[in-house]
Amino acid sequence: MRTALFLIPLWASFSASVLAADVDYSQYVNPFMGGSGPFDGPEPPPVYMYVIYSTRPSSWLVGGGDIFVGGAVPFGVAKVGIDTYEKNASFSAINGGWTPNGSVTAVSMMHVSGTGGAPKYGIVSQMPLTKIHEPVNLLDNRTYWQRRVGDDVARVGYFKTSLESGVDIELSGARHSGIMQYSFPTDGERHVLVDVSHYLPSETGGYNTQSFLGGEIRLNGSEYQGHGTYSGGFNEGAPYTVFFCGEFDSEPDQARTFRGPNTDPTPRFRSFDSGPPAYPVFNEEASTERSSPLNDRIGALFTWKGTTGTVKSRVGISFMDTQTACRYRDEEIKSWHLQDTEEAAVREWNTDVFSKIRVAVDSSTANQTNLALLYSSLYFMHLMPSDRTGENPLWDSNEPYWDDFYTFWDIFRCTVSLYHLIQPERYEGMIRAVIDIWRHEGYMPDGRSGNYNGITQGGSNADNALADAYVKGLRGGINWTDGYAAMVKDAEVLPANTYSILDQAGSVRHGRGALSDWLSLGYLSRDRCTRSISRTVEYASNDYALSVVAAGEDPGDVDKYLGRSANWQRLWSDEVESHGFKGFLAPRNSDGSWDNPAEYNPAKCGFCTWGDITYEATPFEYSFTIPHDMKTLIEFMGGGKLFENRLDHIMMPNTSEQDLDANGAGITSIMNIGPKALRNKVCVKFLLLYRNEPDFATPYLYNYINKQHKSVNQTRHLANTYFRNATYGVPGNSDAGALNSWLIWQMLGIYPIATQPVYLLASPWFPEINMTINGNSTLQIISKGSDGQSLGQKGYYVQSVTINGEKWEKNWFEHDDLMVNGGTLEFTVGSNISGWETGEVPPSPGHVILPSDSR
Ligand SMILES: *[C@@H]1O[C@H](CO)[C@@H](O)[C@H](O)[C@H]1NC(C)=O
Ligand SMILES: *[C@@H]1O[C@H](CO)[C@@H](O)[C@H](O)[C@H]1NC(C)=O
Ligand SMILES: *[C@@H]1O[C@H](CO)[C@@H](O)[C@H](O)[C@H]1NC(C)=O
Ligand SMILES: *[C@@H]1O[C@H](CO)[C@@H](O)[C@H](O)[C@H]1NC(C)=O
Ligand SMILES: *[C@@H]1O[C@H](CO)[C@@H](O)[C@H](O)[C@H]1NC(C)=O
Ligand SMILES: *[C@@H]1O[C@H](CO)[C@@H](O)[C@H](O)[C@H]1NC(C)=O
Ligand SMILES: *[C@@H]1O[C@H](CO)[C@@H](O)[C@H](O)[C@H]1NC(C)=O
Ligand SMILES: *[C@@H]1O[C@H](CO)[C@@H](O)[C@H](O)[C@H]1NC(C)=O
Ligand SMILES: *[C@@H]1O[C@H](CO)[C@@H](O)[C@H](O)[C@H]1NC(C)=O
Ligand SMILES: *[C@@H]1O[C@H](CO)[C@@H](O)[C@H](O)[C@H]1NC(C)=O
Ligand SMILES: *[C@@H]1O[C@H](CO)[C@@H](O)[C@H](O)[C@H]1NC(C)=O
Ligand SMILES: *[C@@H]1O[C@H](CO)[C@@H](O)[C@H](O)[C@H]1NC(C)=O
Repeated sequence: MRTALFLIPLWASFSASVLAADVDYSQYVNPFMGGSGPFDGPEPPPVYMYVIYSTRPSSWLVGGGDIFVGGAVPFGVAKVGIDTYEKNASFSAINGGWTPNGSVTAVSMMHVSGTGGAPKYGIVSQMPLTKIHEPVNLLDNRTYWQRRVGDDVARVGYFKTSLESGVDIELSGARHSGIMQYSFPTDGERHVLVDVSHYLPSETGGYNTQSFLGGEIRLNGSEYQGHGTYSGGFNEGAPYTVFFCGEFDSEPDQARTFRGPNTDPTPRFRSFDSGPPAYPVFNEEASTERSSPLNDRIGALFTWKGTTGTVKSRVGISFMDTQTACRYRDEEIKSWHLQDTEEAAVREWNTDVFSKIRVAVDSSTANQTNLALLYSSLYFMHLMPSDRTGENPLWDSNEPYWDDFYTFWDIFRCTVSLYHLIQPERYEGMIRAVIDIWRHEGYMPDGRSGNYNGITQGGSNADNALADAYVKGLRGGINWTDGYAAMVKDAEVLPANTYSILDQAGSVRHGRGALSDWLSLGYLSRDRCTRSISRTVEYASNDYALSVVAAGEDPGDVDKYLGRSANWQRLWSDEVESHGFKGFLAPRNSDGSWDNPAEYNPAKCGFCTWGDITYEATPFEYSFTIPHDMKTLIEFMGGGKLFENRLDHIMMPNTSEQDLDANGAGITSIMNIGPKALRNKVCVKFLLLYRNEPDFATPYLYNYINKQHKSVNQTRHLANTYFRNATYGVPGNSDAGALNSWLIWQMLGIYPIATQPVYLLASPWFPEINMTINGNSTLQIISKGSDGQSLGQKGYYVQSVTINGEKWEKNWFEHDDLMVNGGTLEFTVGSNISGWETGEVPPSPGHVILPSDSR
């Protein structure tokens, strides 16, 4: 049992080490959760899933969560793992490198986790080979890639796979470095290929595939150093350079550099993409190889005599220079025992992440599946963004630096609010970093990777994250004068058009690409703007975010932005009827007329992507996403009873009118927590597995009419149906942990309303949860009368609540009630529905009704 020791601040290394040693929560992490999906096993998907293929796909199942599997520390720069190639994978399946059954092309140092769209990274690679002669061609990965045999092994800080060639790969990762161990078989040669030009390809090709733009490699005994420059990837990224510093545990008997023409198509850069298959030219003499201005591919081959035996390697990476990469390697990985790096990673994860949320783990009483779900979810929401403090090559600054935001569109809804509680220092760093990006690049990012802003799917949602932090009192070293100025830039200055293939009508890089309509009309018009409905809703919530920060920083602006936050009402049509309900968001033209009202159906959104009226959810769903003014929304929907009926309806099976094939995970309700699988207009051959963040809060909205038991029932039902301790355990792209953080809040029994200091109450999954929040405070969440597991005899419906011992009759509380100094939130639960909540409903702090003649 825990002692008072655990109340000592976590950052005191003494208590931290005791804590970490006390319970090894890392053992509950399933690092494969989200590695495939959304269906189990090799079974083909249900019929409706493949009707849009002309033939039935044979390996549909890969992809899904798109997670990274490998060795990493929380928010690490290095994420060390295998890169694989799997045929017929869904569009974005290889984004994290790992796939269930793909062939291994390399072990590489950098990955993203949970992203959709085109892959990013998969760079700074090694590949162990047992033969190098014909038909092997070191410039053609198809001649040496390896199927895997047996099952991969993964745990926090450790990964192992066995190749068909007989080589076992084991690896672990530290903050900017990794260690690899290759156990060679008795019947082959021993080589390690270092291909500086390796990166994760896009299986569909296309405009946002990555490119290699040149580099250099230098050999010296058992060491090698150099750099590579890469561009492209999901965020339409500019070129960036990564420096590396590698070393083997024994000097190779032979080390040779090689080069060859770059035959990959490389948009806007030179390559020999019409050329014949290229073969490497080895250079036995020179210890240095450089790409020419033609961006030649370069690399090195290291060879050890004899067959049996292991070769170990440690590699550091840096965005600054090779010396820094070498320093990281030497400081972070001091020993050749892989286990030492693994243990250090486990310690860091336990101390900095898992021990922030402590539940009983006793195997005789605790539900082990729920432990796996909780700690795996915590793991996946701490892989991204990447803490690149000290690693910003773009400008000199004392501010922290973070990269790999994927994206605020995904994480503003509930991920950042959890960082706020359990990672306050790092979260402060993220906010300072995005403000510093505004200082030096003009705008905060919505998405950012490879040191480049992009892409923006909806509004300028860093605004929402800043407002959420501000309204909950996060100050620290954040310069809020600048923070507010950065938000005003989003709200007032149209960014230059990027003419992206995704949308030619405005910037997809940063800021608000359709700001001119917003400023002139007060809504985005159907005839001039893409995603006119979803972005109108998001710009309104962004302006609400401005009003929140303006209240402290520039009070004269409050009314202006509060007024603009009501602009969604200009797209509300009382006339539109669907599924028996009246009143929906509807498309409107710049002349003020409704767009094609006779044909309009809010339950459909075409492909629901860049060029459509709404993005990744239907207008039916977006019509629920006005968190700052639920009061007006409920009125517009005809009052509490009709609002409740409408919520009930969208949760029902077989209500979706989007083609059923367009609802992944077998979801057939309008409300969709899972992926949408869509034909991509840009490349119709493949499916996109989309996710559905817009609906995250929707099943909790019953709290706004004091029907909290329905929120509890619906959210439990969603969580139990679509999240599993399994490789197919996440319903859609994990989205840098956005889906995982939704599940964590569900398990805690509370849900944050981003940009407001408000948490809705649900029902926790554990009898007792101790959280370390706000640095050194303790929040205890207790659920009495619960078995914490299933709706069995005891059940999970709330009977009563106390906060710090006081009877609590509202189904929500404010940040100051519990989240600053900690305290105790106690639920009594049972199997019967009880009308316990007699207090006022959650607030609508942005309550403004536009005069009907201005709508
Ligand atoms: C990949 O998909 C195509 C088109 O659906 C199909 O013809 C081909 O057989 C599939 N290949 C594999 C290896 O599944
Ligand atoms: C894995 O890939 C191999 C080769 O393409 C294929 O024969 C095998 O059926 C695949 N296994 C699964 C479970 O998809
Ligand atoms: C293999 O290498 C070729 C040539 O560089 C590249 O076009 C392709 O994308 C690579 N495939 C994989 C799976 O890495
Ligand atoms: C090669 O490595 C040796 C020993 O690590 C070092 O002393 C030497 O300076 C290196 N040479 C170059 C050219 O970096
Ligand atoms: C939570 O903290 C309390 C008070 O320190 C302690 O008695 C209890 O055992 C802890 N429970 C868990 C699950 O850690
Ligand atoms: C969770 O899944 C992992 C991987 O399949 C498995 O090893 C572990 O036993 C599972 N945990 C529980 C409690 O079922
Ligand atoms: C915030 O930054 C501005 C300029 O960027 C500076 O003038 C101001 O002094 C800073 N405020 C604080 C509190 O550091
Ligand atoms: C939903 O529709 C499918 C296909 O028409 C049908 O098999 C299923 O029973 C329906 N489910 C419900 C709950 O109505
Ligand atoms: C609970 O949710 C399920 C799934 O949406 C639904 O079928 C059921 O009617 C709900 N029960 C109550 C009491 O709301
Ligand atoms: C937490 O630490 C801060 C700074 O060290 C201190 O000001 C605050 O009083 C502490 N809070 C609690 C609840 O101990
Ligand atoms: C553990 O919880 C899960 C829900 O996550 C539930 O399905 C399962 O039945 C529970 N297991 C036991 C043994 O109660
Ligand atoms: C729950 O409700 C049922 C039916 O109204 C009743 O028989 C039962 O006693 C209730 N259980 C509790 C624990 O209140």
